[in-house]
Amino acid sequence: MTVPRFGHGSRVPGWDDAVDLTKDPATLPDPATTPVPADLRAEIERHMAKYPDRRSAAIPALAAAQRVHGWCSPEAVEQVACVMRLTPAYLLAVASFYDMLDTRPVGHRRVYVCTNISCSLCGGRELLGRLQAELADDPDVQVRGFECLGACDIAPMASIDGVYVGPIEDGEVAELARQVRDGEEPLPDKQLLRRPSADPHANTREWTPQSFAPPAKLERATPSNDPVPPEPSSFGAPMEGDAAGPSAPIEQAPNPEDDA
Ligand code: FES
Repeated sequence: MTVPRFGHGSRVPGWDDAVDLTKDPATLPDPATTPVPADLRAEIERHMAKYPDRRSAAIPALAAAQRVHGWCSPEAVEQVACVMRLTPAYLLAVASFYDMLDTRPVGHRRVYVCTNISCSLCGGRELLGRLQAELADDPDVQVRGFECLGACDIAPMASIDGVYVGPIEDGEVAELARQVRDGEEPLPDKQLLRRPSADPHANTREWTPQSFAPPAKLERATPSNDPVPPEPSSFGAPMEGDAAGPSAPIEQAPNPEDDA
């Protein structure tokens, strides 16, 4: 939200006035007039099924919609709200808080360059500037600085559509930019997931990495009302005694006896 300010910088009185309680409450999107792509609906429902309170699935549901639409557009938020039976405003409050959910149109290829302390000391800020300059003319790619991505041991590093690469040397920046632009695997020899680990069962050179596939060029998702085929469960068979957990308070119907 843009806070209205005077020329000298102070906030204009009234910018934080309370909501108008005389207005009609926000409404939920009508499923009859809000078509949702079947795959997206299925994924959101899978996330909702994991939690006793469906609101807990807001972040993965928004992330799923972002993968489909490229960003958390009004249409994307409307579709998530329709499936989750929440208001778009509730979801927008979540989306606008979290850094990896975009509430404005951006390139759907995401290059995050870490500029936190370890990476900065090793040239992270210069790396960010160079990658931004190299990829400035590609509207499909967003290059941005990021706080610690948790891979300080490969500083300076970047996340290319979720693939961690580092340490990135000066002489590799142009090649990395070309690989990003052409949808190629980024610096294969510098990927974190290919580094041998002290754990003999993890990340050894015998482990065959999955082939890199950049996010596909986005096309408008086609809504469908076809029935969604059941998803194969990724979990094992239920254990004896498994039962759904208790509902969170918001889901519980009021109990008149509580007031008695
Ligand atoms: S400081 Fe860059 S990954 Fe931690």
